[in-house]
Amino acid sequence: MVITHFADLELLTVSIEGVKQCYLDQLGFPVVDQSEDFIRFRPAPHVTLTFRESHEPVSPAHFAFEVPYSQFDAVVRAVRSRKLLLARWPDGSDVNAFDGGKNIYFRDGDGHLLEWICHSYIREDVIAPHGASKVLYMREVGFPIGDVNGFREWLKSALGMKTKEESDTFNFVVGGTAHAIAASTGRRWIPIGMHALPPNMTVTFGVSEASFIERVRASLQAHEVVAESDGELHLMKYGYRFRLRCTSFDPGIPARLPLPISIEGKEEGRSDDQELV
Ligand SMILES: [Fe+2]
Repeated sequence: MVITHFADLELLTVSIEGVKQCYLDQLGFPVVDQSEDFIRFRPAPHVTLTFRESHEPVSPAHFAFEVPYSQFDAVVRAVRSRKLLLARWPDGSDVNAFDGGKNIYFRDGDGHLLEWICHSYIREDVIAPHGASKVLYMREVGFPIGDVNGFREWLKSALGMKTKEESDTFNFVVGGTAHAIAASTGRRWIPIGMHALPPNMTVTFGVSEASFIERVRASLQAHEVVAESDGELHLMKYGYRFRLRCTSFDPGIPARLPLPISIEGKEEGRSDDQELV
């Protein structure tokens, strides 16, 4: 598997200051770059979260960070104390426990739906938790889409990503630690029944081999290539902007965690939280 992780997620906002008050002041994500209409946070050493100020309506995205299982309760206490807009289940609870893990959802000022998720099988000595929010890595980015099957198959064939289970409405498509959620626009995001509007976003995948970027480039039609430079390719596919970037992220990490789908030949071994998105 050549895609190793989500290296950056770029979203729109209607207020850079509002973003800063949420992600810096409340979540403790360090700011690594900022201009009048742009801000970039680094929640963990290998991943950045970027916002561009927009004059257009913002369709909320869904994304998730993995945090250590042993520190999840402390993370939740911090989230509650920071007065973030927690999303609740019909029974009024905010934390959800599922087979093998726990998660909690909340929204930022633009309505983007964030999730903190942990899994008991993830080793805690592979990646150090980062910052006040104890982020290990960006686990999920949601891609609401009309042609779920076509998008899923493109991620597999062009980007070498993998699935364990597949459906017409919802799929985890995995590359390294990156779980792209190929989900139907008709399937609402839990736990608040949020309409799954396709967000205006750019998703950067970290990859471990420059030759892989060349192979992807060769599979694209000319109009799908937005830009290219040494070690980076920008492309547009299924209405989403993607970037592929060579990084120094250790490609052995996903298997050491161990993420089941990243261990060759053992992809059938473990049930996952297929319904928890
Ligand atoms: Fe999720």
